[in-house]
Amino acid sequence: MLDISEKSSLEALQPLKKHKTPDLLERKNSFNSIQPYLSLQHPRTWLILSVFLLQIFLLLMARSLPISVSRRLHHFPSPSTSAAADIQCKSGMVYVYPLPPVFNTELLQKCNELNPWVSRCDAFSNDGFGRKATELAGIMPENLTRAWFWTDQFSSEIIYHNRIMNYRCRTTDPESATAFYIPFYAGLAVGKYLWKNYSAQDRDRHCQMMLGWVQNQTYWNRSNGWDHFITMGRITWDFRRSNDDDWGSSCIYLPLMRNITRLLIERNQWDYFDVGVPYPTGFHPSTHSDVSTWQDFARTRYRSTLFCFAGATRGFIKNDFRGLLLSQCYKESGSGSCRVVDCGGSKCSNGSSAILETFLNSDFCLQPRGDSFTRRSIFDCMVAGSIPVFFWKRTAYYQYEWFLPSEPGSYSVFIDRNAVKNGTSIRGELEKISREEVRKMRDKVIEYIPNIVYAKQPIEGLVGVRDAFDIAIDGVLRRIKEQEGGYKW
Ligand SMILES: *[C@@H]1O[C@H](CO)[C@@H](O)[C@H](O)[C@H]1NC(C)=O
Ligand SMILES: *[C@@H]1O[C@H](CO)[C@@H](O)[C@H](O)[C@H]1NC(C)=O
Ligand SMILES: *[C@@H]1O[C@H](CO)[C@@H](O)[C@H](O)[C@H]1NC(C)=O
Ligand SMILES: *[C@@H]1O[C@H](CO)[C@@H](O)[C@H](O)[C@H]1NC(C)=O
Ligand SMILES: *[C@@H]1O[C@H](CO)[C@@H](O)[C@H](O)[C@H]1NC(C)=O
Ligand SMILES: *[C@@H]1O[C@H](CO)[C@@H](O)[C@H](O)[C@H]1NC(C)=O
Ligand SMILES: *[C@@H]1O[C@H](CO)[C@@H](O)[C@H](O)[C@H]1NC(C)=O
Repeated sequence: MLDISEKSSLEALQPLKKHKTPDLLERKNSFNSIQPYLSLQHPRTWLILSVFLLQIFLLLMARSLPISVSRRLHHFPSPSTSAAADIQCKSGMVYVYPLPPVFNTELLQKCNELNPWVSRCDAFSNDGFGRKATELAGIMPENLTRAWFWTDQFSSEIIYHNRIMNYRCRTTDPESATAFYIPFYAGLAVGKYLWKNYSAQDRDRHCQMMLGWVQNQTYWNRSNGWDHFITMGRITWDFRRSNDDDWGSSCIYLPLMRNITRLLIERNQWDYFDVGVPYPTGFHPSTHSDVSTWQDFARTRYRSTLFCFAGATRGFIKNDFRGLLLSQCYKESGSGSCRVVDCGGSKCSNGSSAILETFLNSDFCLQPRGDSFTRRSIFDCMVAGSIPVFFWKRTAYYQYEWFLPSEPGSYSVFIDRNAVKNGTSIRGELEKISREEVRKMRDKVIEYIPNIVYAKQPIEGLVGVRDAFDIAIDGVLRRIKEQEGGYKW
């Protein structure tokens, strides 16, 4: 049944609702996904409220769902492992709707209007990959620098759209399609309206218009949307507003969205139609050899530090969990065991190699939750061949099942956050792991790098390697096929 020890998803919503500031936005958009903790004005009120709501929620779930939740959580079909399988498009073909440009390319053209403060044109330039990261030249083999970019964490809508237009299993004949892709930039569309005093209607407008358009399509009626899918480039909570006064748009709660599969950088683990996909990192290989050269580099790298913590160092309240990790890391930094990278403001978002270098130099990286359960830093860490240390199961294990090894202990360390609060030393826990075991885990992380990166391919993907895009689309196609004509409620 439901894993109640993992707290309610409502908890994830709370800090997101209010008190957003431009400062936060700037940091949310930064290279390493800093998510400073926002204190609530009345924590106890929230706690009581969320416990109450959780109970109602659990009751409703239990009553309305014939299928057990654990099946929903764990019954994703595993994506095929052979690259040969999709060359023949065994899982089916995708039809991409010719959505009016107002829903995608026009949003991108108006990149200086995507948020109320700063232009996002630089961030989303270069087909969504961002500026070339020439500043990283000194820290990696020279022939790999061209594969690195200052990619924004919210760029997946653009990346998926561009890729799917060139996808080898794309069809222009809807009759022969297994799945229908809606290339709507849901996150970009709402970005600007999340802030200031915009109304709930402002925040929902694009999504409603898009659904109005889709509903008018012949192939929508055939399936009630169960064979349709979409990429939403922000966390799911940004699209799950239930009251007008709360944070976000209500896009996912609009009735027509019910049966549409959504690829999100953070999913709601209780919703079958939310699929978690990796946050975009800065590494975008264009050949098989880019990938293997990088893997060799990460594998043979000398790592001088046991563990590291990358995050904003100011603004944590004393008892905030991240504050605890930070003080442990500072304490161990004297002995060289831990390294802190302070990324307050936008220090690491542009032009600094500090984060990547730190991950490359560390055996482990600490990955606490932020405002929400996930953070881009998980993927920045793993791409550098550093082993992630988690404190919440939802940070990765219940999110990215298609992309990560099925055995959590094979590539990551889980430390009970309550033990840390009680004074358990993270260094002590990590030092218990033998060097041989560390090497095995790192090899596992490195083996999985292709699964969590988005290739910047000349035409249609890396030959002979499946990247995150290939795995996501193949997973969606297989799932739609498994449903055989409609989701079994
Ligand atoms: C937001 O507030 C400003 C003034 O504070 C006002 O001029 C503007 O019309 C308001 N916008 C909306 C959408 O309410
Ligand atoms: C749906 O199609 C009808 C008939 O072609 C058209 O009149 C109507 O404006 C369309 N609605 C939307 C939302 O596109
Ligand atoms: C889809 O079905 C609805 C309700 O049955 C109907 O009103 C609408 O005209 C249909 N649309 C198309 C494009 O067939
Ligand atoms: C979602 O799918 C179910 C079952 O296939 C169907 O009964 C329902 O009407 C669909 N919902 C919408 C909004 O199309
Ligand atoms: C990069 O250069 C190294 C030798 O310096 C070579 O082994 C590797 O194959 C090259 N990789 C790419 C992607 O060109
Ligand atoms: C990032 O770097 C580019 C080029 O150096 C510069 O034009 C841009 O303003 C910088 N952006 C930020 C947010 O620092
Ligand atoms: C933390 O300490 C409390 C109080 O001493 C104890 O009840 C709890 O079991 C401890 N938790 C862990 C995970 O060690």
